[in-house]
Amino acid sequence: MALRAISRAAQEAGFVIATEAPSSLAPFTRLVIVAEVVNQDDILAARSWKDEFPSAYLVGFLEMPKQSLWLAAERAGFDLVCSRGSVGPALRKVLGDDTLTSTDRAIAVCNSADIAGRLGHLMDLELESLGAISLWRVEGRVLCTGRCPHQRVSLASGEIDGSVVTCPAHGSRFDLISGERMRGPSDFDLACYGTYEENGRVWVLPKR
Ligand code: FES
Repeated sequence: MALRAISRAAQEAGFVIATEAPSSLAPFTRLVIVAEVVNQDDILAARSWKDEFPSAYLVGFLEMPKQSLWLAAERAGFDLVCSRGSVGPALRKVLGDDTLTSTDRAIAVCNSADIAGRLGHLMDLELESLGAISLWRVEGRVLCTGRCPHQRVSLASGEIDGSVVTCPAHGSRFDLISGERMRGPSDFDLACYGTYEENGRVWVLPKR
């Protein structure tokens, strides 16, 4: 059912449907990945797709719109999350709008050389579009997060254990990769943004 809606929307917009990941983006001027989000594995897959195809636009759809899964999918880097029933119209809008590719909206935040060889917290930045953000290198990946959602404190001097950071102000703990709140007093997860490195620069993909 969803595949029919996806095929129809893609055909109307002149896209080619591939049911397996392409080996490279070379033949594509634009790649949209559409995936059903059923569980945590699908959420984790979003990040690997972002790593592999940084310019791709990720659409995730849910059979049952469960709020926690929906929010987790958005946090994990899906550019658009929708219900199964609305995937056709949503996709039609995305495919017909040339301004909606992730790459178009990516923001260059620093030169790769600026952070080469560094681990843990890399820098705090203030962006007009995103506000206060922080860059990290954790488990070999460059990550971007917002400030502590409890009282907007920078996590820069927080202790890092694996991928978990402890807020230096009141001790909230967050997973820097998923943004998941591991301990309060914060009631909220940490905002996370997709990142990639290309042409010697670090790019951040704002959430929609
Ligand atoms: S500001 Fe981070 S826990 Fe309070």
